[in-house]
Amino acid sequence: MKSHNIVIYIYLAVFIKFFGFQACQAMEPITPLPSKHGQDPDIVALGERLFHDVRLSHGQQTSCASCHILEQAGVDGLAKSYGLDEYTTLFNTPTVFNSRYNLYQYWDGRAETLEGQIRMVIANPKEMDGDWNEILNILHRDPSYISQFSQSYEKGLTQESIVDALVVYIRSLITPDAPFDRYLKGDQNAITEDAKQGYALFKGYGCSACHQGVNIGGNLFQQLGVMENYFEKRGKWDQSDLGRYVHSQKDKDRFVFKVPSLRNVARTGPYLHDGSVEKLDKAIRIMGRYQLGRSLKDDEVLKIERFLESLTGSYQGVPL
Ligand code: HEC
Ligand code: HEC
Repeated sequence: MKSHNIVIYIYLAVFIKFFGFQACQAMEPITPLPSKHGQDPDIVALGERLFHDVRLSHGQQTSCASCHILEQAGVDGLAKSYGLDEYTTLFNTPTVFNSRYNLYQYWDGRAETLEGQIRMVIANPKEMDGDWNEILNILHRDPSYISQFSQSYEKGLTQESIVDALVVYIRSLITPDAPFDRYLKGDQNAITEDAKQGYALFKGYGCSACHQGVNIGGNLFQQLGVMENYFEKRGKWDQSDLGRYVHSQKDKDRFVFKVPSLRNVARTGPYLHDGSVEKLDKAIRIMGRYQLGRSLKDDEVLKIERFLESLTGSYQGVPL
């Protein structure tokens, strides 16, 4: 009997030695980003061109990159962005980095695919107000586009291939190699002691019940104000605060938003769907109070902030 037990212990020790780390990693609520985007480089180059091309918008005023500035972590740093003419967007501009890992696009998740999202933004009268006939006419006059499209697409330059090239480009915008991802992969020194404690709080207090998975968000819908009415405290609210309700007209969807990704969050302020929160520490306190019913202590906020800072990854080898 005894020797039997010893054999089991030895098996167990060997198992932990070889599989322990992977087994532990599998239990974490957050998983590292893949290191490669796996997209066709020619189509990525084409999509990159389109992303920066104002000719996709009415009056040739705006490109995707006007609001999603890649050098600024894929956002413009404004509470609301400037669209066409004097319009400002209804919502704060989220980053395009890692958006391929969101299960839904937009703050209220009304686009389920990147294709759908791109068609909506080009058509949106406040954003690009693009007209497909006009866009196709203009781009067809550019011989370099014609040859670039015909190299990658059988049918050449069409509405479908324009949308596809943009989707492929967006899929290439990933930011692997965040210090926290290196830590998850076993490098104990990749993040500071404070960040480790911040991560423990993030899990212990239940932030990770909502912000989890490879994008640390992007895969669930939740009310802003689970524990306490956020909008009553903040003051007047309008249609843009109603979240999914605007589309479903169901009471349970009032103030319900997509849980946003927290990757690169230290670089993507201002925060929340309305861009009303300037600083990350304030966003953390709001989450503690309204989502978890907790008043976080100063040192807890600081540690969680250090953890969130360790989620800043690299694009093409350069930290955002
Ligand atoms: C006028 C500013 C502006 C322009 C131009 C713009 N966007 Fe956006 N983008 C936004 C805003 C604001 C949102 C959030 C809107 C919402 O939630 O309803 C957004 C959301 C997105 C999302 C979803 C991200 C997420 O986490 O939900 C993607 C992807 C995206 N845009 C890509 C693009 C592409 C591609 C283009 C060009 C074809 C483009 N955007 C042009 C402002 C802009
Ligand atoms: C019940 C689900 C839930 C929990 C728990 C939760 N969050 Fe959130 N979080 C959300 C939702 C939903 C939003 C978007 C709200 C909005 O903008 O209207 C959000 C937004 C954020 C933002 C702003 C992101 C941005 O890009 O604007 C940060 C930062 C954040 N959460 C961190 C945390 C931290 C830290 C905790 C734990 C203290 C936490 N969250 C707990 C659901 C949750």
